[in-house]
Amino acid sequence: MTDLDSIQGDFERALAGAADERALEEIRIRFLGRNGLIAAEFSRMSEVPPEGRRARGADLNKLKGFIESKLKEAQSGRSGPAARSAAFDVTLPARSVSRGAAHPVLTTLNDICDIFGRAGFEIAGGPEAETDWYNFGALNVPADHPARDMHDTFYIADCGLRIADLNSRSAIRNPQYLLRTHTSPVQIHVMEKRRPPVRVIAPGRVYRRDDDVSHAPMFHQVEGLWVDRGVTMRDLRGLLEYFAKTLFGSSVHLRLRPSFFPFTEPSLEVDVSCVICGGESRQRASACRTCKSTGWLEILGAGMVHPNVFKSVKIDPSSVTGLAFGMGVERIAMLRYAISDIRLFYENDVRFVAQFGALG
Ligand code: PHE
Repeated sequence: MTDLDSIQGDFERALAGAADERALEEIRIRFLGRNGLIAAEFSRMSEVPPEGRRARGADLNKLKGFIESKLKEAQSGRSGPAARSAAFDVTLPARSVSRGAAHPVLTTLNDICDIFGRAGFEIAGGPEAETDWYNFGALNVPADHPARDMHDTFYIADCGLRIADLNSRSAIRNPQYLLRTHTSPVQIHVMEKRRPPVRVIAPGRVYRRDDDVSHAPMFHQVEGLWVDRGVTMRDLRGLLEYFAKTLFGSSVHLRLRPSFFPFTEPSLEVDVSCVICGGESRQRASACRTCKSTGWLEILGAGMVHPNVFKSVKIDPSSVTGLAFGMGVERIAMLRYAISDIRLFYENDVRFVAQFGALG
């Protein structure tokens, strides 16, 4: 038989030293458990002389009740302000919430669409698998044009797969499908369905057999088409100047260079003054890797819609004029964010994407 005061003393000391829930549980087991100290005393009741058993039982029950209530108090005390620090370690770093971020190509694409949207352009689209007619023929691309070569274009071999009938008329003309090499075929789709005035932009994926630091086999373009009576090169210049200054900042300048595309005449390539060195490196001959010290960056191809394109969609070329342009979204995103390798866009490394800000 053990002196109950010493058990109570042991209990009180143990309780005072208990730092957390686990320690309290250990104390509970030690004193109140099935093989605990109180149970042991009850089982030794036979050692108590019969006349003292009643009193001993009452004392044991009292001690048991005391221990129970003190433990309970200690446990609920843990939700009090002082004890809470033991239950929750407020100094632990919080569990981080990972936030998504918009991919820089998507952000750039959305911004481009927004800018033209404000100028009254509607969004149009077309299939990514096209016929030779839509991708080349209707756009006045001659049969021997290098872009039509197997080395430049992904053709879809006849594998029994029936791509939804894009247009039976063109399918008969040339049954072969290919992955569109530019968004310009959307010009044809739009003008087949709608008569001028037409003012659309067409964002989408395009495919070319190309793969290096600045070319990917799949990339994004935004096409623009504005057909109406009296649309001129001045409209083209004004529109593109508005676009470039809105996207890159009002300090950029535009440069139009004569170029060639089969579907526009005249054709131009459009440069902006270097967004990194501001065109300065050309004057100072200090090295700028982005513009290779030329001071200029090519951002898009453009021109006035070729009469043969109008003829392809049965629009009388003497009744309207049109401007068209096409730009590579990745290229513009690379200039905007000073990204040197196009492949970074497609590696799906969240650390890369996270640098461009969380989704709003
Ligand atoms: N389709 C051309 C290209 O991919 C760009 C372009 C579009 C040029 C419209 C002129 C007019 O390079």
